[in-house]
Amino acid sequence: MSKQLRFFSDLDEMSAFAADYILQKAKIAVHQNGMFTLAVSGGTTPKKLFSILATDHYRNNFPWDRTHIFWVDERYVPETSDDSNYKAADDLLLAKIKIQKTHIHKIDTSLATPEESALKYEKELKTFFSYKLPSFNMVLLGMGEDGHTASLFPYTDVLEEKEKWVASTPAPLEINPKVPRVTLTYPVLNNSETILFLIGGEKRKALAEMFVDSEDVDFHKYPSAAVKDKGSLLWLTSLT
Ligand code: 6PG
Repeated sequence: MSKQLRFFSDLDEMSAFAADYILQKAKIAVHQNGMFTLAVSGGTTPKKLFSILATDHYRNNFPWDRTHIFWVDERYVPETSDDSNYKAADDLLLAKIKIQKTHIHKIDTSLATPEESALKYEKELKTFFSYKLPSFNMVLLGMGEDGHTASLFPYTDVLEEKEKWVASTPAPLEINPKVPRVTLTYPVLNNSETILFLIGGEKRKALAEMFVDSEDVDFHKYPSAAVKDKGSLLWLTSLT
């Protein structure tokens, strides 16, 4: 598996590259199988990308009518909360493009517990992917300064999950917001056709350790290191 790492001078340049890369992948997926399945992460970094995808060029050229949007993970907060990954994507992108509501597969955080939410999301994935292990055309991931990705935090039980497609995780101790999460697990992430890491902000320490001695990186310390691709895995990072 080739790890491609590309550096960009700033977030705008990285996000512009990512938007075009995603558009190309979407067109290929729609041409090959009539639809494009995209799972997005939350956090700060993808917000610029979402805004770019809502500009006229992408609003008019992206195959939104054939695109299904999923979430890689979600914070267990109401979808009206500013900490909600769904809210960020909806405010910046989904509310500005023509996409059917049935193509938006959010993680429902209105249930009594994160566990119930994880079960409900997994049921939705099973229905959509006809009970076969999901293989998203593209998964957008971020990375925290502690090397986590999705809501796969260092030294947590979910890193060992081999069966569930979706799991709930306790509130992280170090990373804000310190709320329980619902997350895709490695079996699903690592079954994706294309994985695009978008890494903004000061993450150089984790990146350096993961790329310098990538063969024997302990994924319990840096969970991002255990993300493998089935097709292509591209790491984009901006130095600011
Ligand atoms: C989340 C994200 C998470 C994020 C990283 C990086 O729910 O917070 O899915 O995995 O990608 O924490 O976040 P930033 O882009 O804000 O640095």
